[in-house]
Amino acid sequence: MSDDHMRATVPEAVAAVLGWPVAHSLSPRLHGFWLREQGIAGTYLGLPVTPENFGTAVHGLAAAGFRGANVTVPHKLAALRLADDVDDAARAIGAVNTLVFQPDGRILGRNTDAYGFMANLQQAGVDPKVGPALVIGAGGAARAAVHALLVAGCPRIYLTNRTEATGYALVESMADDRIVVLPFNCLKKLPDDIVLLGNTTSLSMTGKGVLDVDLAGLAETAWVHDIVYVPLETPLLRSARQRGLRTVDGLGMLLHQAVPAFRAFFGRDVAVTDSLRAHVLGGK
Ligand code: ATR
Repeated sequence: MSDDHMRATVPEAVAAVLGWPVAHSLSPRLHGFWLREQGIAGTYLGLPVTPENFGTAVHGLAAAGFRGANVTVPHKLAALRLADDVDDAARAIGAVNTLVFQPDGRILGRNTDAYGFMANLQQAGVDPKVGPALVIGAGGAARAAVHALLVAGCPRIYLTNRTEATGYALVESMADDRIVVLPFNCLKKLPDDIVLLGNTTSLSMTGKGVLDVDLAGLAETAWVHDIVYVPLETPLLRSARQRGLRTVDGLGMLLHQAVPAFRAFFGRDVAVTDSLRAHVLGGK
């Protein structure tokens, strides 16, 4: 038996990401980096789990002594339903991305996406308190972004979505009068007071369409963020950079959302550094 095999059968701490599919997930690569950096004898696996098998798989992992699991598409709603208890962020966003298996057998559901969204912006130097933000989209990622902005004290959040009704549904469930829905054509003439423009739709992704935004109306001090990280510089971020605006890419959100999960699974505080970024990018 090889050393590697021996080690894989007796790790001290094991966690995983569950997705369907899961092969594209960068989580094993980033948790693996921190495990090595911290010298922890642990393992973090990517496990392909079908929606039908999700509940059985989670309970099986908990029974087998895993510390917990991250969940990605399409399991975030199922994870919310399955958890015995959920944190405030998961409740507000309506999705769970981290399951923590408690020693007493209970399964705690958390959402660290909002934390990741805000930690990424703050590491870049964005202060969400200084003025309004405009969020494009009304899906799961938008809900995490809006929740994060509300918690961080953003004074007003404009929300715009192709399907306006979905935007209104988000506002209704978040019940905070700082959120204002704007028609989708506001992207052709942006409100002139926004300090942060954030795209949460998948539209910037390689091979998808192009988000048609006219950045001319933005103040020179405004920030532009895209949650998409493939490509790292989306067409939206490129036009922002060409206009001299400050930009924040989406990879940081993925890296930062993993920090509280790593703490919950492996008990250590870890940092998002340039070497982590380079390592994760090197694996794509
Ligand atoms: P996620 O959980 O990643 O946010 P989602 O819940 O499927 O994914 O949400 C996708 C978001 O991208 C939605 O806001 C969607 O707008 P609709 O509510 O109108 O569907 C938005 N989106 C996807 N394709 C789009 C397109 N071609 N143009 C504009 N918005 C688009």
